[in-house]
Amino acid sequence: MFHVKRKPFPQDFLWGSASAAYQVEGAWDLDGKGKSIWDEYVRIPGTTYKDTNGDVAVDHYHRYKEDVALMAEMGLKAYRFSIAWTRILPNGTGEVNQAGIQFYSDLIDELIAHNIEPLVTIYHWDLPQALQDKYAGWESRQIIDDFDNYCRVLYKHFGDRVKYWVSLNEQNVFIGLGYLAAVHPPKVSDRKRMMQANHHANLANAKAIASFHEMVPNGLIGPSFAYGPAYPKSALPADIIAFENANEVESYWWLDVYCKGKYPRIAWNFMEENDLAPVVEPGDDAILAAGLPDFIGVNYYQTATYEWNPIDGITGDASSQNTTGKKGTSKSTGIPGMYRTVKNEFLETTDWDWTIDPQGLRIALRRLTSRYDLPILITENGLGAFDDLTADEQIHDTYRIDYLAKHVDAVHDAIADGARVLGYCTWSFTDLLSWLNGYQKRYGFVYVNRDEESMKDLRRMKKDSFYWYKKVIATNGEDI
Ligand code: BG6
Repeated sequence: MFHVKRKPFPQDFLWGSASAAYQVEGAWDLDGKGKSIWDEYVRIPGTTYKDTNGDVAVDHYHRYKEDVALMAEMGLKAYRFSIAWTRILPNGTGEVNQAGIQFYSDLIDELIAHNIEPLVTIYHWDLPQALQDKYAGWESRQIIDDFDNYCRVLYKHFGDRVKYWVSLNEQNVFIGLGYLAAVHPPKVSDRKRMMQANHHANLANAKAIASFHEMVPNGLIGPSFAYGPAYPKSALPADIIAFENANEVESYWWLDVYCKGKYPRIAWNFMEENDLAPVVEPGDDAILAAGLPDFIGVNYYQTATYEWNPIDGITGDASSQNTTGKKGTSKSTGIPGMYRTVKNEFLETTDWDWTIDPQGLRIALRRLTSRYDLPILITENGLGAFDDLTADEQIHDTYRIDYLAKHVDAVHDAIADGARVLGYCTWSFTDLLSWLNGYQKRYGFVYVNRDEESMKDLRRMKKDSFYWYKKVIATNGEDI
């Protein structure tokens, strides 16, 4: 009989939680901060759920000490947060805004004083609007040097205290939703332009990683990829081809560039045949090869199941997404002649139609280990749900505990399988703004008293899951 014995989680395992600047900070125009593309985008009526924005968000900018105190009470080992480029360089380039440096420096010190490891995300989607106006942001090669310059400012100021860094958060999402689905800024729907912007993001990522290795030799850096492992609908060979196509175009297209420094051949062939391949200039290959990560950051929420999609089949558009929380309102998407998504009859879904699949996380960690053999940091995993505040101000989020417990269990299995997992960050610590889904889609251990209509008092209240995660951390993952 073959079996693999489970070992305890490593002693230095990073039990963490994550957030992003635009989703928690607020203070959108304070202390010299410049405007980001999200500050502008949310003001276009109808782009977000009930036109919600992050002007105040959950006011973490003013309440970070209170939030860090709650993290310390929980025993959190690591907190992943992002830096707003526009606080550091209000116009994207030029003079450094000292107030921005000060804010993040204070936050980092506060975390360290409470024995919480700061994990910094350099870019979580809030591009300076000035760079969008000046040269169309990611569509220009100028972004590569400007991003590198911004990164170097961060390495210089925070590289002494921050060991773990995430370069780009979910390039596949911000490029895909910004340049194809047209639901994120700059609201473009053009696969050719998407691929060119994506190539520039690849180069920016690689260059920033190379600079990091030069300036912060003892640190570790990697991009965070939104990894939704693919399943085939059936053993029908056409469905297997669809599933393999999805692997190539939805995952390896990014992951191979990050981890191997080159585009995957089969996906490249598809792009070239369809006149979608980006323009690659001499020297680009060398930049990609010189900027390999120390770990893969994984944001895992769900798996996707694929079947064959005929040449005259469906594509899908912005309306495919469920942003209301009305179960069953999302639609199938795909590429004709390649694949389309289908419902997986074995899996339950959330109210936003995301599959609930803990084993999918084990599969994700195994596949990444098998293809790239790098350490992995789980930079996001969590359940977006409606939470009820009871009359006596309790939040009994047993569904969240159940979701997270099963995912922690799957991570434990993946470690036994041989995956090298550095840590696990839930999304999120406090409730926060969900980009397109407003404030009603809650993820936190800590409830924030606000909704779409009113900021109320923004009070923090601990949910049942807060106490659950505290116990998980205290027992190093043994008692889930
Ligand atoms: C990831 C992002 O895509 O998923 C987060 O990195 C985001 O910023 C999270 O909030 C959950 O997605 P959503 O759409 O439910 O907010």
